[in-house]
Amino acid sequence: MLKASCASDRGPILVGTWSFSLAAIESAWTALGGVSVSGDRPEGDSESSSNLLDAIELACQYADLDLGVDSVGLGGLPDSSGRMSLDGAIMESPIRFAGVAALRRHVHPVSVARLVMERTEHTLLCGDDADVFADRHGLAARKLLSDDAKAAFETWEASRQGGDGGPLDQRTDGALLGLRPLDPGLGSEKAGRLFRPNSGREGAAPAGHDTIGVLGRDIAGNLAAGCSTSGLPFKVPGRVGDSPIAGHGLFVQPGVGSATATGTGELISGICASFVAVETLRRGGTLLDALQEVMRRIDELGPLRPHHQVGVIVMDAAGNVASGAFRPGFLVATRDEGGGRVSGPDLVHRPEDDGLPESAREGLAKNDDPEPKDDV
Ligand code: GLY
Repeated sequence: MLKASCASDRGPILVGTWSFSLAAIESAWTALGGVSVSGDRPEGDSESSSNLLDAIELACQYADLDLGVDSVGLGGLPDSSGRMSLDGAIMESPIRFAGVAALRRHVHPVSVARLVMERTEHTLLCGDDADVFADRHGLAARKLLSDDAKAAFETWEASRQGGDGGPLDQRTDGALLGLRPLDPGLGSEKAGRLFRPNSGREGAAPAGHDTIGVLGRDIAGNLAAGCSTSGLPFKVPGRVGDSPIAGHGLFVQPGVGSATATGTGELISGICASFVAVETLRRGGTLLDALQEVMRRIDELGPLRPHHQVGVIVMDAAGNVASGAFRPGFLVATRDEGGGRVSGPDLVHRPEDDGLPESAREGLAKNDDPEPKDDV
């Protein structure tokens, strides 16, 4: 098995998808500060870095509870039946991984996933039985649908014209304008709200999706990742995206690197985006090679719809980080010994592509949201 063998030349670091994750990784930084080294690990837990896992879990928990984030945890939007379902995962290595899908009663998917990873031999639990598993391990159940999300659902339901495919089955290209995640940055009062309600057509409800993905490295060189999401808003009940699946929403290969993806789960899953990124590193590629390989494969999927977006963060074994996005609008948060910051991605595959076909521009309501800034 490959071990975390890289010299500790970069120091501890946490990185997260979207600007809203800055507060989440800042809140988790203290946990990472108590870095674990091999000799300090709990007995029988020689392959893990518990403090690093704590930091990953804490960061995701923070976002889960942030009502200002419209696609993770309590602030997230429900499925087309008006019910919430949450997905998430945690990973240290291909043999130390677990995900949970379609939780309806527990707000912290990464915490449930960590219990699955640490207390069972399994890697994926879903649906009612995942909630029951969480109950049995003492996690408190709670109501997940927030008042704002309920109101958004009611607006969406009033405007729908049949079908159960959520925003995908009945919207024109123009109406999809507001569904592509576009990070307004922390300077905006809309920080955490990645979607632009009513930008496509009058009465359209907010919709769109993204995930918090967090990559971490401790001073001993251990790597870990986690992600948490409420998935595609107004999705077909039962739909599960990339976030709870190894190689899709996240991947960690000790001694090589880690990656996490956010955006349109169906695209991310189709190309195993996080696996592709880390595998590119394993084959000797650079961080930029890894991002380019993912974006090239997304491009090969054929014409994308206006709301499609994929953002990826990749970290090598030394803790060097790069990020990329298919289209503009993606931001990344970093916390290391130099402090916390938000920045634009290193690579935007289609920098001029705002997601709209020319034919859809006419008649669109003006979008008042600010364009994202490179350094916020
Ligand atoms: N990327 C999250 C999802 O598609 O569910």
